[in-house]
Amino acid sequence: MGSSSSPYLINFLLILPLIIIPKALGCYSAIFSFGDSITDTGNLYISSKNSSFHFFFPPYGETYFHRPTGRCSDGRLIIDFIAEYLGLPHVRPYLELKSNASAQNFKGAVNFAMVGATALDAAFLAAMGDHNDYTNSSLGTQLDWFKEMLPSLCNTSSNCKKLLSSSLVLVGEIGGNDYNDALLAGKSIEQVQTYVPLVIEEISTTIKELIELGAMTLMVPGNFPIGCLPIYLTKFRTSDEKQYDSSTGCLNWLNKFAEYHNDQLQIELSQVQRLHPNVNIIYVDYYNAVMHFYHSPDQFGFIGGTVEACCGGGGPYNYNSSAQCGSLEASACENPSQFINWDGIHFTEAAYRWIAKGLLRGKLIQHSQY
Ligand SMILES: *[C@@H]1O[C@H](CO)[C@@H](O)[C@H](O)[C@H]1NC(C)=O
Ligand SMILES: *[C@@H]1O[C@H](CO)[C@@H](O)[C@H](O)[C@H]1NC(C)=O
Ligand SMILES: *[C@@H]1O[C@H](CO)[C@@H](O)[C@H](O)[C@H]1NC(C)=O
Ligand SMILES: *[C@@H]1O[C@H](CO)[C@@H](O)[C@H](O)[C@H]1NC(C)=O
Ligand SMILES: *[C@@H]1O[C@H](CO)[C@@H](O)[C@H](O)[C@H]1NC(C)=O
Repeated sequence: MGSSSSPYLINFLLILPLIIIPKALGCYSAIFSFGDSITDTGNLYISSKNSSFHFFFPPYGETYFHRPTGRCSDGRLIIDFIAEYLGLPHVRPYLELKSNASAQNFKGAVNFAMVGATALDAAFLAAMGDHNDYTNSSLGTQLDWFKEMLPSLCNTSSNCKKLLSSSLVLVGEIGGNDYNDALLAGKSIEQVQTYVPLVIEEISTTIKELIELGAMTLMVPGNFPIGCLPIYLTKFRTSDEKQYDSSTGCLNWLNKFAEYHNDQLQIELSQVQRLHPNVNIIYVDYYNAVMHFYHSPDQFGFIGGTVEACCGGGGPYNYNSSAQCGSLEASACENPSQFINWDGIHFTEAAYRWIAKGLLRGKLIQHSQY
């Protein structure tokens, strides 16, 4: 453990520079966000004709909103905590605003993220044989929505540049589902590895378009340590102990894959940064923020469980794909704030709050060094 924990601590410190932004963050007048279920605050909920998705039912939302809102957690998401910090309203789903978009109704925040969204075009992935049960609103579609909406928020090109340059633009986490859909359906890690450059290119293209439109501050999170997620730990359970990190119980090969994506993403972001030296492109290290929970759960109050989900249908990781959180066969833990993972795939509000705190205030990071 000793040898593996020090590089990760160093990595964690490397994200310190982005903690400098909070002072400037206070100045942002708007938030635009793109992504998947880590960030969706209701787009799938509003659009879905299939109201039987398990995350549309209690106990989703039980901790904060006291009802399901389409957020895949027991409460608020990282984006909600960022909005609260900036003094903006909780970021409203685009599909709620769309029918009545106006500068008046905009109130400083729009969320284009969609549960299940992929970075790569849905039709392309379908042609690769990957099934998406939730949505075809991939990152490109979300960007199109943004471009369609923009004229209702600002009436001249200079007004639009002004709006965007004073906005915080969150692009991601995105790409996780491109890999999840393929890996969980049984594609090999070698096959899925070939998606990485395509996913990174898609993210990069999106960022460049947003910069063209006037975005000046872009936060781009990487992937989470997916080898710690109950859904993967259940699917790829093995008696070969060498596959696990003995200090955390996470699957090494999956975490290595997430790190590979993150390394490639950072390389690409630094290239985009070189092209646009006046733009603030911030890589957000979700991976190490979350690894910190698994290494020192007590420090964050995660005394109930680490690799077990709070809400699920039983089994060693409390994840059963036939009895998902929100279904009648599943039940939730007494106190979700004592768990890192909510439903086997997504995190608890408590975990999201710590991540947001770490990013916005730097306190988590400072404390966690000692
Ligand atoms: C609705 O979603 C559930 C999974 O949550 C799936 O089993 C079912 O087939 C879907 N129904 C339709 C009509 O798409
Ligand atoms: C659209 O927004 C305006 C301004 O906020 C509001 O007066 C009106 O009732 C809204 N219409 C609908 C259909 O929600
Ligand atoms: C996405 O799916 C919806 C129906 O769910 C369909 O109307 C729409 O045309 C699809 N979009 C694309 C780009 O395939
Ligand atoms: C354009 O928008 C600004 C503020 O968003 C407003 O003050 C101005 O009156 C608008 N101009 C026109 C021509 O609509
Ligand atoms: C998963 O849930 C289903 C439905 O409740 C149940 O029949 C099955 O036995 C469960 N599997 C495990 C491994 O617990």
